[in-house]
Amino acid sequence: MDRIEITTLIDNVTDSLSSTPSFVTREWVWLQQKGMKRVAGGSLCCANHGLALVITVEAAGERRSVLFDGGPVDYAVERNGTRLGVDFGAIEEMVLSHGHWDHAGGLPQAIAMTRAANGGRAVPLHLHPGMFRERGSRQPDGGVLPMDRVPAPAEWAAMGADPQVSREPAVIAGHVLVSGEIPRVTAYEVGLPGQVARDAEDAPWQPDEWLHDERFVAVNLRGKGLVVFSACSHTGIVNVLHEARRLMPGVPLLAAMGGFHLSGTNERIIPQTVADLGGFGLRWMFPSHCTGWRALNALERAYGDAVVVPGAVGKTFVLEA
Ligand SMILES: [Fe+2]
Repeated sequence: MDRIEITTLIDNVTDSLSSTPSFVTREWVWLQQKGMKRVAGGSLCCANHGLALVITVEAAGERRSVLFDGGPVDYAVERNGTRLGVDFGAIEEMVLSHGHWDHAGGLPQAIAMTRAANGGRAVPLHLHPGMFRERGSRQPDGGVLPMDRVPAPAEWAAMGADPQVSREPAVIAGHVLVSGEIPRVTAYEVGLPGQVARDAEDAPWQPDEWLHDERFVAVNLRGKGLVVFSACSHTGIVNVLHEARRLMPGVPLLAAMGGFHLSGTNERIIPQTVADLGGFGLRWMFPSHCTGWRALNALERAYGDAVVVPGAVGKTFVLEA
């Protein structure tokens, strides 16, 4: 690609004040470019626990857009999407990175807004067969807190999506790589401790810590290398980058963006992860969503703020060849 533009439609964090490198536009500046004349609460985006990225790639003057996840809830897509001026009609395809509510919950709204702007065309939605069981988190008292389910393929079709259910890698919108299942090659990245799943309301909860349904997305910036988008990294961000290298041999890794999931029970793997991330030659790291403040601080201490640029809602990143 000659150019990659990433608009953060939804993220856990709002931060329009911290300074950023010149290729990153902060939310308020972007909103001014989109016509905001006066700053006010009602003019701004909302932060929510979740992630949604609009990725627009450009080659030979042709722009193509995909949506990587939809965040947790419909109103965040509507609120942030309209304020940020997201061109929903240009979104050709969508990817749900894994079967969690904080990435899937806003997709129905994104599908509706896309179809309202594209003449009613069905939107291909890339899914994995392992994301439709009901999931939950084991609680300290031994009980289970269920998570909102991911709609089944037929339900997505009824919403106007064209569900593409696969475990295999694919190239979408001409240029965007969607990975297959991500092999576990490190010893310390062991998924999401305490996650369980069940096949029916009356079925027993079973261990479900590996999240084999998680996939990543990657784009090759001409002459610079691969930008890897990992939404929640339940497979481990180091495993993700090993697999990105394996899928695109000979292409250097330029940047890793998304949720590195080094919060909660995964805080114990921060030191090893931060050390191993140094082995990929990344020019940038753009951690966001579920990375957690301890890992974010550890990354910044290790690699500095010329390398580590955290995400936030409304931030737009433009990378050029
Ligand atoms: Fe997540």
